[in-house]
Amino acid sequence: MALTHDKIERNAGLLVVLIILLVSVGGLVQIVPLFFMHSTTEPVAGLKPYTPLQLAGRDIYVREGCYVCHSQMIRPFRAETERYGHYSLAGEFVYDHPFQWGSKRTGPDLARVGGRYSDEWHRLHLMNPRDVVPTSIMPGYPWLAQNTVDNSDIERKLRVMRLLGVPYDDKTIAGARDELRGKTEMDALIAYLQVLGTAVKTRR
Ligand code: HEC
Repeated sequence: MALTHDKIERNAGLLVVLIILLVSVGGLVQIVPLFFMHSTTEPVAGLKPYTPLQLAGRDIYVREGCYVCHSQMIRPFRAETERYGHYSLAGEFVYDHPFQWGSKRTGPDLARVGGRYSDEWHRLHLMNPRDVVPTSIMPGYPWLAQNTVDNSDIERKLRVMRLLGVPYDDKTIAGARDELRGKTEMDALIAYLQVLGTAVKTRR
């Protein structure tokens, strides 16, 4: 036995192969069960798929790189739950493809920002954050109010989401273009922000 160990320690190639094997098996044992567990794969009660407008807003959130400064994942620590509300549950994100948890918090976490401010507050804040939060270092996004939402591929997006397991019915998909018609990118982004984290009722 001691001799075998000696061999492994003196042979870097063998050591690397064995470490990879060990980490892979350990990883699989931890990760694979999550694919089949109810609490990680089933939507929480009350979770609704994004409406076409909210989904378009989500794409603008990604396009503008909001995730570079904002996470959407409240960790189960007191300092976080006191500030942001109930910690995030896996079941809140099953319709998010891909999820926007992020890891950088230059700004506050947005996982439960839905309903915290009025639409008008968001509008002012996105035009120029300093108008409502004088010390803010967030950039303004005034062009969102000028651009109308591109609705040319929304039906296709919804169909792809359905393929990934989001329960969109034919009626929603058929009406999607009309729902977006005449809306600005600002409208869409605010619709998205206002629904974040609202499926779970919290104290705030
Ligand atoms: C350079 C980093 C940065 C970027 C990029 C950024 N933000 Fe922010 N954001 C902040 C900071 C800092 C704050 C806190 C000050 C304030 O409220 O403006 C903030 C605050 C917010 C708030 C208020 C949150 C709260 O709970 O009070 C919202 C909503 C928000 N940002 C949305 C967005 C959206 C949407 C985008 C993308 C269009 C975005 N942010 C891009 C840094 C950023």
